[in-house]
Amino acid sequence: MPMSKAFEERLFPKLPKIKDYFGTPFHIFDEQGIIENGNKLKQSLIDVKGFREYYAVKALPTPAILQIMKKLGFGLDCASPPELELARKNGFRGEDIMFSSNNTTAAIFEMAAADGGCILNIDDISMMDKVKDFPELICFRYNPGERRTGNELIGIPVEAKYGLRHDQVIPAYREAIKRGAKRFGLHSMIISNERNYHYMVETVRMLLDIIDEVSQELKIKFEFFNISGGIGIPYRPEDTPFDMAAFVGETKEHLRRFEQKHGYSPRLFMECGRFVTGPHGVLVATVTNRMSKYREYVGVDAATMSANPRPAIYGAYHHITILDPSGKPKHGGEEVVDVVGPLCENSDKFAKQRLLPKTVEGDIMVQHDTGAHSPAMGGNYNGWLRPQQLLLRTDGSVELIRRGETIEDLFATLNFKPKVLKG
Ligand SMILES: Cc1ncc(COP(=O)(O)O)c(C=O)c1O
Repeated sequence: MPMSKAFEERLFPKLPKIKDYFGTPFHIFDEQGIIENGNKLKQSLIDVKGFREYYAVKALPTPAILQIMKKLGFGLDCASPPELELARKNGFRGEDIMFSSNNTTAAIFEMAAADGGCILNIDDISMMDKVKDFPELICFRYNPGERRTGNELIGIPVEAKYGLRHDQVIPAYREAIKRGAKRFGLHSMIISNERNYHYMVETVRMLLDIIDEVSQELKIKFEFFNISGGIGIPYRPEDTPFDMAAFVGETKEHLRRFEQKHGYSPRLFMECGRFVTGPHGVLVATVTNRMSKYREYVGVDAATMSANPRPAIYGAYHHITILDPSGKPKHGGEEVVDVVGPLCENSDKFAKQRLLPKTVEGDIMVQHDTGAHSPAMGGNYNGWLRPQQLLLRTDGSVELIRRGETIEDLFATLNFKPKVLKG
Protein backbone atom coordinates (compact mmCIF):
# COMPACT_ATOMS: atom_id res chain seq x y z
CA MET A 1 0.00 0.00 0.00
CA PRO A 2 2.47 2.68 -1.14
CA MET A 3 1.30 6.24 -2.07
CA SER A 4 -2.44 6.69 -1.53
CA LYS A 5 -4.98 6.75 -4.36
CA ALA A 6 -5.96 10.26 -3.23
CA PHE A 7 -2.35 11.52 -3.56
CA GLU A 8 -2.12 9.84 -6.99
CA GLU A 9 -5.33 11.51 -8.11
CA ARG A 10 -4.13 14.90 -6.88
CA LEU A 11 -0.67 14.55 -8.40
CA PHE A 12 -0.59 12.48 -11.59
CA PRO A 13 -2.80 14.66 -13.83
CA LYS A 14 -0.64 17.67 -12.88
CA LEU A 15 2.72 15.95 -13.26
CA PRO A 16 3.52 16.88 -16.89
CA LYS A 17 2.87 20.57 -16.10
CA ILE A 18 4.91 20.41 -12.86
CA LYS A 19 7.71 18.64 -14.72
CA ASP A 20 7.75 21.29 -17.47
CA TYR A 21 7.72 24.16 -14.96
CA PHE A 22 10.25 22.90 -12.39
CA GLY A 23 12.22 20.34 -14.40
CA THR A 24 13.21 16.92 -13.00
CA PRO A 25 14.29 15.41 -10.70
CA PHE A 26 12.28 16.52 -7.66
CA HIS A 27 10.66 15.23 -4.51
CA ILE A 28 7.09 16.35 -4.09
CA PHE A 29 5.22 16.16 -0.78
CA ASP A 30 1.46 16.13 -0.29
CA GLU A 31 0.33 18.74 2.24
CA GLN A 32 -3.21 17.37 2.43
CA GLY A 33 -2.01 13.81 3.03
CA ILE A 34 0.38 14.93 5.78
CA ILE A 35 -2.32 17.00 7.52
CA GLU A 36 -4.89 14.20 7.29
CA ASN A 37 -2.40 11.64 8.59
CA GLY A 38 -1.28 13.93 11.45
CA ASN A 39 -4.89 14.55 12.47
CA LYS A 40 -5.60 10.81 12.29
CA LEU A 41 -2.68 10.13 14.64
CA LYS A 42 -3.98 12.72 17.12
CA GLN A 43 -7.52 11.36 16.83
CA SER A 44 -6.35 7.77 17.42
CA LEU A 45 -4.66 8.84 20.65
CA ILE A 46 -7.31 11.31 21.79
CA ASP A 47 -8.17 9.17 24.84
CA VAL A 48 -4.55 8.89 25.92
CA LYS A 49 -4.27 11.79 28.33
CA GLY A 50 -1.69 14.41 27.35
CA PHE A 51 -0.46 12.59 24.22
CA ARG A 52 1.96 14.61 22.12
CA GLU A 53 3.86 13.81 18.95
CA TYR A 54 7.36 15.29 18.55
CA TYR A 55 8.04 14.93 14.82
CA ALA A 56 11.58 13.67 14.20
CA VAL A 57 13.24 16.52 12.26
CA LYS A 58 15.83 14.14 10.79
CA ALA A 59 13.08 12.49 8.74
CA LEU A 60 12.45 15.59 6.59
CA PRO A 61 14.27 18.72 7.77
CA THR A 62 12.57 21.27 5.52
CA PRO A 63 10.94 24.41 7.01
CA ALA A 64 7.63 24.13 5.08
CA ILE A 65 7.20 20.61 6.49
CA LEU A 66 8.05 21.76 10.03
CA GLN A 67 5.41 24.49 9.64
CA ILE A 68 2.81 21.81 8.93
CA MET A 69 3.91 20.04 12.15
CA LYS A 70 3.45 23.33 13.99
CA LYS A 71 -0.09 23.74 12.67
CA LEU A 72 -0.84 20.17 13.80
CA GLY A 73 0.30 21.14 17.31
CA PHE A 74 3.24 18.71 17.22
CA GLY A 75 6.58 19.39 18.86
CA LEU A 76 9.91 18.50 17.26
CA ASP A 77 12.50 15.88 18.12
CA CYS A 78 16.01 17.21 17.37
CA ALA A 79 19.27 15.28 17.53
CA SER A 80 21.91 17.78 16.37
CA PRO A 81 22.70 21.51 16.65
CA PRO A 82 21.50 22.31 13.10
CA GLU A 83 18.20 20.54 13.82
CA LEU A 84 17.83 22.62 17.00
CA GLU A 85 18.48 25.78 15.01
CA LEU A 86 15.98 24.77 12.33
CA ALA A 87 13.37 24.09 15.02
CA ARG A 88 13.89 27.50 16.62
CA LYS A 89 13.94 29.34 13.29
CA ASN A 90 10.53 27.80 12.70
CA GLY A 91 9.12 29.10 15.96
CA PHE A 92 9.46 26.00 18.16
CA ARG A 93 10.60 26.89 21.66
CA GLY A 94 11.20 25.33 25.08
CA GLU A 95 9.05 22.28 25.69
CA ASP A 96 8.06 22.12 22.01
CA ILE A 97 11.53 20.67 21.43
CA MET A 98 12.87 17.35 22.63
CA PHE A 99 16.66 17.22 22.22
CA SER A 100 17.89 13.62 22.03
CA SER A 101 21.59 13.91 21.37
CA ASN A 102 24.24 11.29 22.07
CA ASN A 103 27.98 11.55 22.65
CA THR A 104 27.25 15.22 23.39
CA THR A 105 29.76 17.97 24.27
CA ALA A 106 29.37 20.71 26.89
CA ALA A 107 29.21 23.28 24.06
CA ILE A 108 26.25 21.50 22.49
CA PHE A 109 24.45 21.28 25.85
CA GLU A 110 24.93 25.06 26.15
CA MET A 111 23.38 25.53 22.75
CA ALA A 112 20.46 23.34 23.76
CA ALA A 113 19.90 25.46 26.88
CA ALA A 114 20.04 28.78 25.00
CA ASP A 115 17.13 30.56 23.34
CA GLY A 116 14.33 29.21 25.54
CA GLY A 117 15.93 25.79 26.07
CA CYS A 118 14.25 22.49 25.30
CA ILE A 119 13.44 19.19 26.96
CA LEU A 120 16.86 17.63 27.45
CA ASN A 121 16.96 13.90 26.87
CA ILE A 122 20.29 12.79 28.35
CA ASP A 123 21.83 9.71 26.79
CA ASP A 124 24.56 8.81 29.27
CA ILE A 125 25.06 9.13 33.02
CA SER A 126 28.49 10.77 32.54
CA MET A 127 26.94 13.60 30.55
CA MET A 128 25.24 15.22 33.53
CA ASP A 129 28.62 16.85 34.32
CA LYS A 130 28.57 18.52 30.91
CA VAL A 131 25.25 20.30 31.57
CA LYS A 132 26.12 23.70 33.07
CA ASP A 133 22.77 24.88 34.40
CA PHE A 134 20.92 21.70 35.20
CA PRO A 135 17.26 22.11 34.14
CA GLU A 136 14.19 21.46 36.30
CA LEU A 137 12.74 19.16 33.63
CA ILE A 138 14.98 16.26 32.68
CA CYS A 139 14.61 13.08 30.67
CA PHE A 140 16.97 10.11 30.34
CA ARG A 141 17.21 7.66 27.48
CA TYR A 142 17.01 4.03 28.54
CA ASN A 143 18.57 0.98 26.90
CA PRO A 144 17.16 -2.38 28.04
CA GLY A 145 20.36 -4.27 27.14
CA GLU A 146 20.01 -8.05 27.10
CA ARG A 147 16.22 -7.89 27.02
CA ARG A 148 15.33 -8.56 23.37
CA THR A 149 12.59 -5.98 23.06
CA GLY A 150 14.17 -4.38 20.00
CA ASN A 151 13.31 -5.47 16.46
CA GLU A 152 15.72 -6.88 13.91
CA LEU A 153 16.22 -3.57 12.13
CA ILE A 154 17.51 -1.66 15.10
CA GLY A 155 19.58 -4.60 16.30
CA ILE A 156 20.36 -5.87 19.75
CA PRO A 157 20.02 -3.17 22.43
CA VAL A 158 23.14 -4.44 24.24
CA GLU A 159 25.20 -3.48 21.17
CA ALA A 160 23.60 -0.05 20.79
CA LYS A 161 25.52 3.10 21.73
CA TYR A 162 22.39 4.73 23.13
CA GLY A 163 20.94 5.09 26.58
CA LEU A 164 21.48 4.21 30.22
CA ARG A 165 22.12 0.67 31.40
CA HIS A 166 19.44 -0.67 33.70
CA ASP A 167 21.66 -0.34 36.80
CA GLN A 168 22.42 3.30 35.92
CA VAL A 169 18.81 4.46 35.86
CA ILE A 170 18.15 5.03 39.58
CA PRO A 171 21.60 6.62 40.19
CA ALA A 172 20.98 8.97 37.22
CA TYR A 173 17.63 10.25 38.52
CA ARG A 174 19.02 10.46 42.08
CA GLU A 175 21.88 12.63 40.81
CA ALA A 176 19.51 14.72 38.70
CA ILE A 177 17.41 15.43 41.81
CA LYS A 178 20.58 16.53 43.65
CA ARG A 179 21.29 18.89 40.78
CA GLY A 180 17.87 20.52 41.05
CA ALA A 181 15.64 18.47 38.73
CA LYS A 182 11.98 18.50 39.79
CA ARG A 183 10.16 17.27 36.68
CA PHE A 184 10.95 13.95 35.01
CA GLY A 185 10.59 12.02 31.78
CA LEU A 186 11.88 8.71 30.42
CA HIS A 187 12.73 7.82 26.79
CA SER A 188 13.67 4.76 24.77
CA MET A 189 13.93 3.82 21.10
CA ILE A 190 14.33 0.12 20.38
CA ILE A 191 12.47 -0.45 17.14
CA SER A 192 12.84 0.93 13.63
CA ASN A 193 10.47 0.68 10.66
CA GLU A 194 8.40 -1.90 12.57
CA ARG A 195 4.81 -2.60 11.50
CA ASN A 196 4.10 -5.16 14.24
CA TYR A 197 2.36 -3.11 16.94
CA HIS A 198 3.31 -5.60 19.70
CA TYR A 199 6.87 -4.21 19.77
CA MET A 200 5.59 -0.69 20.46
CA VAL A 201 3.26 -1.94 23.22
CA GLU A 202 6.27 -3.75 24.67
CA THR A 203 8.16 -0.42 24.80
CA VAL A 204 5.19 1.12 26.66
CA ARG A 205 5.16 -1.73 29.15
CA MET A 206 8.93 -1.63 29.61
CA LEU A 207 9.05 2.12 30.25
CA LEU A 208 6.10 2.05 32.67
CA ASP A 209 7.89 -0.73 34.59
CA ILE A 210 11.04 1.41 34.86
CA ILE A 211 8.99 4.42 35.96
CA ASP A 212 7.35 2.24 38.60
CA GLU A 213 10.77 1.12 39.84
CA VAL A 214 12.31 4.61 39.91
CA SER A 215 9.33 6.35 41.45
CA GLN A 216 9.06 3.78 44.26
CA GLU A 217 12.75 4.12 45.06
CA LEU A 218 13.10 7.90 44.74
CA LYS A 219 9.51 8.96 45.54
CA ILE A 220 9.14 11.01 42.37
CA LYS A 221 6.40 11.29 39.77
CA PHE A 222 7.02 11.18 36.04
CA GLU A 223 5.42 13.78 33.78
CA PHE A 224 5.91 11.81 30.58
CA PHE A 225 7.41 8.79 28.89
CA ASN A 226 8.57 8.95 25.29
CA ILE A 227 8.37 5.76 23.24
CA SER A 228 10.14 7.56 20.39
CA GLY A 229 9.71 6.73 16.70
CA GLY A 230 10.19 3.56 14.71
CA ILE A 231 6.66 2.77 13.53
CA GLY A 232 6.97 1.25 10.06
CA ILE A 233 5.01 1.96 6.90
CA PRO A 234 3.99 -0.47 4.16
CA TYR A 235 6.61 0.14 1.47
CA ARG A 236 5.52 -2.94 -0.50
CA PRO A 237 1.99 -3.26 -1.90
CA GLU A 238 1.49 -6.51 0.05
CA ASP A 239 2.68 -5.08 3.42
CA THR A 240 0.08 -4.76 6.17
CA PRO A 241 0.01 -1.41 7.99
CA PHE A 242 0.74 -0.84 11.69
CA ASP A 243 -2.42 -1.58 13.69
CA MET A 244 -2.81 1.75 15.47
CA ALA A 245 -6.19 0.87 17.05
CA ALA A 246 -4.76 -2.29 18.64
CA PHE A 247 -1.67 -0.40 19.81
CA VAL A 248 -3.79 2.33 21.42
CA GLY A 249 -6.13 -0.20 23.04
CA GLU A 250 -3.31 -2.14 24.73
CA THR A 251 -1.43 1.05 25.66
CA LYS A 252 -4.54 2.41 27.39
CA GLU A 253 -4.79 -0.81 29.36
CA HIS A 254 -1.15 -0.49 30.56
CA LEU A 255 -1.78 3.14 31.52
CA ARG A 256 -4.98 2.21 33.37
CA ARG A 257 -3.10 -0.39 35.44
CA PHE A 258 -0.32 2.12 36.18
CA GLU A 259 -2.89 4.73 37.26
CA GLN A 260 -4.63 2.22 39.51
CA LYS A 261 -1.35 1.58 41.34
CA HIS A 262 0.07 5.14 41.40
CA GLY A 263 -2.99 7.38 41.29
CA TYR A 264 -1.80 9.10 38.11
CA SER A 265 -0.36 8.23 34.74
CA PRO A 266 2.43 9.99 32.84
CA ARG A 267 1.79 11.62 29.44
CA LEU A 268 2.67 9.58 26.37
CA PHE A 269 5.07 11.21 23.89
CA MET A 270 6.09 9.84 20.48
CA GLU A 271 8.72 10.93 17.97
CA CYS A 272 7.47 9.39 14.75
CA GLY A 273 9.04 10.59 11.54
CA ARG A 274 8.47 7.92 8.91
CA PHE A 275 4.89 7.20 10.05
CA VAL A 276 3.88 10.87 9.75
CA THR A 277 5.42 11.93 6.41
CA GLY A 278 6.90 8.80 4.80
CA PRO A 279 3.96 7.85 2.53
CA HIS A 280 3.26 11.47 1.55
CA GLY A 281 6.23 12.14 -0.69
CA VAL A 282 7.48 10.78 -4.01
CA LEU A 283 10.60 11.20 -6.10
CA VAL A 284 9.90 12.15 -9.70
CA ALA A 285 12.56 11.61 -12.35
CA THR A 286 12.64 11.45 -16.15
CA VAL A 287 13.65 8.28 -17.95
CA THR A 288 16.76 9.35 -19.86
CA ASN A 289 18.06 6.05 -21.23
CA ARG A 290 17.04 2.49 -22.02
CA MET A 291 20.02 0.16 -22.05
CA SER A 292 20.43 -3.52 -22.76
CA LYS A 293 23.45 -5.20 -21.12
CA TYR A 294 23.41 -8.58 -19.40
CA ARG A 295 20.31 -7.11 -17.75
CA GLU A 296 17.77 -4.59 -19.01
CA TYR A 297 18.22 -1.08 -17.61
CA VAL A 298 16.01 1.95 -17.20
CA GLY A 299 18.21 5.02 -16.58
CA VAL A 300 16.74 8.09 -14.86
CA ASP A 301 18.02 11.63 -14.24
CA ALA A 302 18.33 11.22 -10.44
CA ALA A 303 21.09 9.48 -8.47
CA THR A 304 20.25 7.29 -5.47
CA MET A 305 22.91 8.70 -3.14
CA SER A 306 21.73 12.30 -3.58
CA ALA A 307 17.99 11.73 -4.11
CA ASN A 308 17.03 8.63 -2.11
CA PRO A 309 19.92 6.54 -0.77
CA ARG A 310 17.73 3.97 1.00
CA PRO A 311 17.69 1.43 -1.86
CA ALA A 312 21.46 1.78 -2.40
CA ILE A 313 22.42 1.66 1.29
CA TYR A 314 19.91 -0.83 2.72
CA GLY A 315 18.55 -2.50 -0.39
CA ALA A 316 15.26 -0.93 0.74
CA TYR A 317 12.18 -1.46 -1.41
CA HIS A 318 10.45 1.64 -2.74
CA HIS A 319 7.54 1.04 -5.08
CA ILE A 320 7.82 2.52 -8.59
CA THR A 321 5.13 3.68 -10.99
CA ILE A 322 5.99 4.49 -14.60
CA LEU A 323 3.90 7.18 -16.28
CA ASP A 324 3.87 8.19 -19.92
CA PRO A 325 4.78 11.82 -20.70
CA SER A 326 1.10 12.82 -20.43
CA GLY A 327 0.99 11.63 -16.81
CA LYS A 328 -0.93 8.37 -17.35
CA PRO A 329 0.31 5.28 -15.49
CA LYS A 330 1.63 2.77 -18.02
CA HIS A 331 0.45 -0.83 -18.25
CA GLY A 332 1.43 -3.72 -20.47
CA GLY A 333 4.58 -5.08 -22.01
CA GLU A 334 5.94 -5.86 -18.54
CA GLU A 335 9.63 -6.66 -18.30
CA VAL A 336 12.16 -7.15 -15.53
CA VAL A 337 14.58 -4.22 -15.27
CA ASP A 338 17.05 -2.48 -12.97
CA VAL A 339 16.23 1.22 -12.50
CA VAL A 340 19.50 3.12 -12.24
CA GLY A 341 20.93 6.60 -11.75
CA PRO A 342 24.09 8.10 -13.30
CA LEU A 343 26.40 7.66 -10.28
CA CYS A 344 29.67 5.76 -10.73
CA GLU A 345 28.77 3.01 -8.22
CA ASN A 346 26.97 -0.19 -9.08
CA SER A 347 24.79 0.22 -5.99
CA ASP A 348 23.15 3.24 -7.71
CA LYS A 349 19.93 1.32 -8.33
CA PHE A 350 16.48 2.59 -7.35
CA ALA A 351 15.15 -0.90 -8.04
CA LYS A 352 16.73 -4.23 -8.89
CA GLN A 353 15.08 -6.86 -11.08
CA ARG A 354 11.71 -5.09 -10.84
CA LEU A 355 8.78 -6.02 -13.05
CA LEU A 356 7.71 -2.76 -14.72
CA PRO A 357 5.59 -1.91 -17.74
CA LYS A 358 7.43 -1.30 -21.01
CA THR A 359 9.39 1.89 -20.34
CA VAL A 360 10.90 4.23 -22.90
CA GLU A 361 12.95 7.42 -22.89
CA GLY A 362 10.82 10.41 -21.87
CA ASP A 363 8.59 8.41 -19.50
CA ILE A 364 8.26 9.56 -15.90
CA MET A 365 9.46 7.47 -12.96
CA VAL A 366 7.62 8.03 -9.68
CA GLN A 367 9.30 6.41 -6.70
CA HIS A 368 6.91 6.16 -3.77
CA ASP A 369 7.27 6.77 -0.01
CA THR A 370 10.15 9.25 -0.06
CA GLY A 371 8.56 11.50 2.57
CA ALA A 372 10.93 10.42 5.37
CA HIS A 373 14.60 9.49 5.58
CA SER A 374 14.96 9.69 1.78
CA PRO A 375 16.06 13.17 0.62
CA ALA A 376 17.22 13.74 4.20
CA MET A 377 19.81 10.97 3.87
CA GLY A 378 21.11 12.28 0.55
CA GLY A 379 24.75 13.25 0.07
CA ASN A 380 27.05 14.43 -2.71
CA TYR A 381 29.27 11.44 -3.43
CA ASN A 382 30.56 11.58 -7.00
CA GLY A 383 29.34 15.19 -7.20
CA TRP A 384 25.67 14.42 -7.81
CA LEU A 385 23.40 17.19 -6.57
CA ARG A 386 20.51 16.89 -4.15
CA PRO A 387 17.24 17.55 -6.01
CA GLN A 388 14.71 20.31 -5.38
CA GLN A 389 11.76 19.70 -3.06
CA LEU A 390 8.21 20.76 -3.93
CA LEU A 391 5.03 20.89 -1.88
CA LEU A 392 1.64 20.15 -3.39
CA ARG A 393 -0.50 22.54 -1.35
CA THR A 394 -4.07 21.81 -0.28
CA ASP A 395 -5.29 24.44 -2.82
CA GLY A 396 -3.62 22.54 -5.67
CA SER A 397 -0.72 24.95 -6.13
CA VAL A 398 2.83 23.60 -6.19
CA GLU A 399 5.53 25.44 -4.28
CA LEU A 400 9.30 25.12 -4.31
CA ILE A 401 10.21 24.51 -0.65
CA ARG A 402 13.91 23.69 -1.09
CA ARG A 403 15.85 24.57 -4.20
CA GLY A 404 17.99 21.99 -5.92
CA GLU A 405 21.68 22.08 -5.16
CA THR A 406 24.03 23.78 -7.62
CA ILE A 407 27.64 23.06 -8.50
CA GLU A 408 28.47 26.34 -6.70
CA ASP A 409 27.01 24.82 -3.51
CA LEU A 410 29.41 21.91 -3.87
CA PHE A 411 32.34 24.25 -4.36
CA ALA A 412 31.33 26.57 -1.49
CA THR A 413 33.66 24.77 0.93
CA LEU A 414 36.56 25.47 -1.41
CA ASN A 415 36.12 29.17 -0.69
CA PHE A 416 38.33 29.81 2.32
CA LYS A 417 41.17 31.93 3.59
CA PRO A 418 44.51 30.14 3.30
CA LYS A 419 45.52 28.62 6.64
CA VAL A 420 48.80 26.76 7.23
CA LEU A 421 50.43 25.45 10.39
CA LYS A 422 54.10 25.94 9.66
CA GLY A 423 56.32 22.98 10.51
C1 LIG B 1 15.76 9.34 18.75
C2 LIG B 1 14.92 9.15 17.54
N1 LIG B 1 13.63 9.51 17.57
C3 LIG B 1 12.83 9.36 16.49
C4 LIG B 1 13.30 8.82 15.30
C5 LIG B 1 12.34 8.70 14.15
O1 LIG B 1 12.21 7.41 13.69
P1 LIG B 1 11.08 7.06 12.59
O2 LIG B 1 11.19 8.08 11.51
O3 LIG B 1 11.44 5.70 12.12
O4 LIG B 1 9.78 7.12 13.28
C6 LIG B 1 14.63 8.41 15.21
C7 LIG B 1 15.14 7.82 13.97
O5 LIG B 1 16.26 7.45 13.78
C8 LIG B 1 15.47 8.59 16.36
O6 LIG B 1 16.76 8.21 16.33
